[in-house]
Amino acid sequence: MKKVITYGTYDLLHQGHINLLRRAKELGDYLIVGVTNDNFDRERGKLNVCNNVLERVEAVRSTGLADQIIIEDYFGQKIDDIQKYEVDIFAIGSDWEGKFDYLKEFCEVVYLPRTEGISSTMLRDEQQQVVKVGIVGCGLIAQRFVPEASFVGGVQIIGVYDIETKVGEVFASHHKLEHTYTSYESLLKDVDAVYIATPHLSHYELTKQALLAKKHVLCEIPLVLEEPQARELYDIAEKQGVVLMEANKTAHCPAFNHLMVMIKSGVIGEVVDIEASLSRLLPDRTRREFDATQAGGSMYESAVYPLLPIFRLLGTDYKDLSFYSRMENGVDVYTKGVMYYPTAVCSFKLGLGVKTEGNLVISGTKGYAIVEAPWWKTDYFELRYEDLNQNKKFFYKWDGEGLRYEIQEWMLCILNRRFSSARLRPHESIAMAGVMQQFTERKNFMEI
Ligand code: CTP
Repeated sequence: MKKVITYGTYDLLHQGHINLLRRAKELGDYLIVGVTNDNFDRERGKLNVCNNVLERVEAVRSTGLADQIIIEDYFGQKIDDIQKYEVDIFAIGSDWEGKFDYLKEFCEVVYLPRTEGISSTMLRDEQQQVVKVGIVGCGLIAQRFVPEASFVGGVQIIGVYDIETKVGEVFASHHKLEHTYTSYESLLKDVDAVYIATPHLSHYELTKQALLAKKHVLCEIPLVLEEPQARELYDIAEKQGVVLMEANKTAHCPAFNHLMVMIKSGVIGEVVDIEASLSRLLPDRTRREFDATQAGGSMYESAVYPLLPIFRLLGTDYKDLSFYSRMENGVDVYTKGVMYYPTAVCSFKLGLGVKTEGNLVISGTKGYAIVEAPWWKTDYFELRYEDLNQNKKFFYKWDGEGLRYEIQEWMLCILNRRFSSARLRPHESIAMAGVMQQFTERKNFMEI
């Protein structure tokens, strides 16, 4: 019996797939079809697949052409499968010509003619609703936003507004955007959603204005520095029926999310201690980050990152919080925060003028999780136990600048009319603003 194997995503199953499966089947007596797992597709950068793996398996099954369907989970699996199932022929469409020659060591490799004029990408584009996005503020992070957005379906960045029109024009021309707006109001008229990437103190007004105009908002961190303002903004978003998201990119990192759900499911027992740190030494003291009048300092700059695992795992109902800061010209170049929960204690260290180890350690009654620096863009973590044989390492792919994951979640929320993301709930974002406010008010604050 001649065994043939072929692989694909088979999203929105179309005639091209059916023709390919038929041709593959005709090469032998028994056809095995490998369907990619959702995680594997995400890992290979396919973020826009519409059907989940069960739907795609069902679609392949309904063609009646597959004798066996398997799931493709990891890079290198094809070699394992060919040997395991004693495959004679590996078949794939001609768009992959040459890419699988390395399998010739294990079986015959056949590139079959591809059906012209149809693809899943084309069908997805036809189905896709488009969200018109405007960018507000043309700093470094906005520069990264545009190329990252190109990986996410449904986003159309139509223009930019910067308080300095010249800066906006240069940005628009560099990124080939259609419009440079000279006022925020004119940008708001044209778009469905805005990405706000301006200095901290402008976030509240710009976000509020956009929400009142019924525009969805993705606002850079920190959303605001006072709890009542954060609460008000989320209330307005809910009333207006639009999505407000704080752009905490760690919240959308696939590895970080997996770590959170694993810990919640008890792999290290009860969480008793969380230590999270990050520091970025900036020698140029003329920067905004060191300007007290522009809300400079390490707390406002990055506290939302360590607060994320703390709030995700222990909730927002902490009982006590103290700050210990080294201040220079009115800004904290280093802050250590200590939070007390009835069943746990947490601490975070943040530095702009002091360097610390930047890792995340979550300690539990059965073991601990460690994520090495820079943990806020997690691509690797380890679970460690008393019995070293139980230790386990986990590796993930973090593509590009990582912003694509948060943009994708923002789009999914908008398109599916989900007004809050499970990855960062409004009450968590509000509690983060509450922490900033306590810092501003110097509650439980000691200078070192
Ligand atoms: N295929 C084909 N003819 C097409 C489209 C796909 O023969 N018009 C083949 C591919 O070469 C591959 C298999 O179908 O062997 C599964 O491809 P898949 O990547 O799932 O489909 P695409 O339509 O190419 O998907 P996408 O647009 O997401 O790349």
